[in-house]
Amino acid sequence: MGLSLDKDWWRQAAIYQIYPRSFKDSNGDGLGDIKGITSKIDYLSSLSIDAVWLSPFYPSALADGGYDVDDYRDVDPKLGTLADFDEMLLKLHEVGIRVFVDIVPNHSSNRHIWFQEAIASEPGSAARNRYIFRNGKGANGELPPTNWPSHFAPSAWSHESTQGGKGNQWYCHMFAPEQPDFNWDNREVHDEFLSTLKFWADRGVDGFRIDVAHMLKKDLSEPLQDQDKYPGLTNRKPGQDILFDRDDVHEIYKEWRLLFDTYNPPRVAVAEAYAPAERLARYASPEELGQAFNFELLEANFNAQEFKTVIDRGLAAAKSQGSSSTWTINNHDQMRPATKYGLNPTVDRLRWKNSGGTTHPLDEVSGLNAAIAASMLIMALPGCTYIYQGEELGLFEVLNIPEDQIQDPQYLRNNKADKGRDGCRVPLPWTSSGSSFGFGDGKAHLPQPQWFAEKSIEKESHDSKSPLSIFRTALKLRSQLIAPEELTWHETGNKHILHFSRPNGWHCITNFGGGYYDFMGLLGEKAEILHSSQPLTEAGLYLIHGQISAADSLPPATTVWLRLPQ
Ligand code: GLC
Repeated sequence: MGLSLDKDWWRQAAIYQIYPRSFKDSNGDGLGDIKGITSKIDYLSSLSIDAVWLSPFYPSALADGGYDVDDYRDVDPKLGTLADFDEMLLKLHEVGIRVFVDIVPNHSSNRHIWFQEAIASEPGSAARNRYIFRNGKGANGELPPTNWPSHFAPSAWSHESTQGGKGNQWYCHMFAPEQPDFNWDNREVHDEFLSTLKFWADRGVDGFRIDVAHMLKKDLSEPLQDQDKYPGLTNRKPGQDILFDRDDVHEIYKEWRLLFDTYNPPRVAVAEAYAPAERLARYASPEELGQAFNFELLEANFNAQEFKTVIDRGLAAAKSQGSSSTWTINNHDQMRPATKYGLNPTVDRLRWKNSGGTTHPLDEVSGLNAAIAASMLIMALPGCTYIYQGEELGLFEVLNIPEDQIQDPQYLRNNKADKGRDGCRVPLPWTSSGSSFGFGDGKAHLPQPQWFAEKSIEKESHDSKSPLSIFRTALKLRSQLIAPEELTWHETGNKHILHFSRPNGWHCITNFGGGYYDFMGLLGEKAEILHSSQPLTEAGLYLIHGQISAADSLPPATTVWLRLPQ
C-alpha cells in the first residue's frame, strides 16, 4: 500500500500517539526504542490507523521525558540511530501509516550546544541572545528578574551559576530548569527551527505536533514586567498577555506554513496550545498549522451535556477557520480515562492520585465502559481522532509508583505536590507473562503492575470482547464510514443520551446515564447495528417497563454505531 498525495488526508485521520520510551524495547535496556516500533508495525497496521505521532525520541537527559531536547536533528543513541528512524519511516509508509514527529520549539535542554555556548559566553553576547538571559533584581542581582512562574518549579528563572555560568545573570525556563526557553525575538532561532522542520520533512516525515505552541512569544520589551495572574489569565486584552497565546506568535506559524506547502502533499501540523476555542482556531487556520488540539474533552466528565457543549464549540471553532476538529480523551500528560471516568465526578482527582487511590473507591467496570464508549463516540465525530498508546487496551492509571522510581519533573520539581504523569507512561504489556510483560528482555524503566497481565495485547487479541478487539473493529469500520465533515444532532428526550448522525446515515448513540436506552424502538427495523462498545446481546435480556427487550437496548456507558438507509 502506498501513500496517497491527497493534500487533505489528515482532516479526518485516526492518529495513534506513541510514547517511544514506553512502546517496545528491542534491546533489553528497559527503554523503548525505534527498532521496537519497527518490530510492531503489524500491530499498528492491525489498528487501521492513518498515522502515528511519536513523542520526542531525540537525544535527551530525560529531565522531562524527552521534552528536553539536546539535538533536534538526531535520534537518542539509547533509542537508535537516524538509519533506524529512516527504516521505521519507510516500513510504516509501506503499510500506509504516516508519521508525525514532535517539535519542541519553546525550549531546548540545558545540554543543547547553543545553551552550552550561552552559559560560557558574556552577558549581551550573541550566544546568550538565543535564550532569555537577564540581570536579577535586588542590590546585587540576587533576586529573579520577574515573578514569572514555571510549570515545574516555583520560579521561571534560575541563576546561571546553577548551570556552571560564571556571571551573575538569570535565564528563563517556563518548565524545568533543564529546559531553557528560546528567545523567539531572535531571527536566528526562527531560522534554526525552519531548518529542523525541513530536515524531518525532507526525510519524509508527514507532520508535526508542536509542543506548547502558544508559549513561544513573550513580551520581552524592557523593563520586563511581572505577570499579574497565572496561568495567562491576566486582565490584559486577549493576545496581549506577557507570556501566553500572544498575537505575535502567529507570525511564526505563518512562516512555517510557507515551508510546509513546498512539499507534496503539504506537510501538516497540530498545535498543542492552551487557549479558548475561539483563539485556538487561529493556530489551526490553513495559513498556519492547520490543526490544533481540542483539549476540552480532557477536562470533561463522562456526562452527555458536558460532551455536547465541547463538541459544538470545537466544531464551530474549526469551521470558522476551515480547519478540522481534533478529538482526544487522553495523552501522555493526562490521567488514563478508564480511571478518570471510574471516579465519582466530585472527587478531586489530584488528591486521589496522590493518595495512591485510597481516598475514594474506583469503579473500574463503569470507568472502563465509559472510556471505550467515549473513544467510540469521538471516533464518529467529524475530524481527527487521536488515540494514546494503551487506550486501546483500556489501561488504567498506574498508581503507587515507588517514590524512588518517579521520573516526572511535575512531581520532583513541584515540592512533590503532584504525583505526576508517570502513571500513564508505564511501558505497554505485550504479553501476559515474561520479563516486563513482553515489553523487552530487561526490567522496564517504569514499574509495571501485576494487573497488566490481564490487559496485555496478547491476551486481549484472543478475546473478541476485549477493549482491543472493540477498538480494532471500530477503527476499521471508521476508515470505511468516513463521511463529509458534518454532524446532525437528534433529539432523544433523555438528558443522558447523545445521538448524532453523519451525512451517509452513520448514527452514533452514547448512553452516559445509568439506565438502559431503547434505541431500536426509535430508529425502527431498518437500522443496521454496526458495532458497539459493549456487546449488546451480552448485556442480556432486560425487563424494561415490564417488557423483555434484548439487543435493542443500550446499556449504561455504551456507544452504538448504526447505519440507516438514506
Ligand atoms: C508539553 C508536553 C509535556 C511537556 C511540556 C514541556 O505540554 O506535552 O509532556 O512536559 O510540554 O515540554
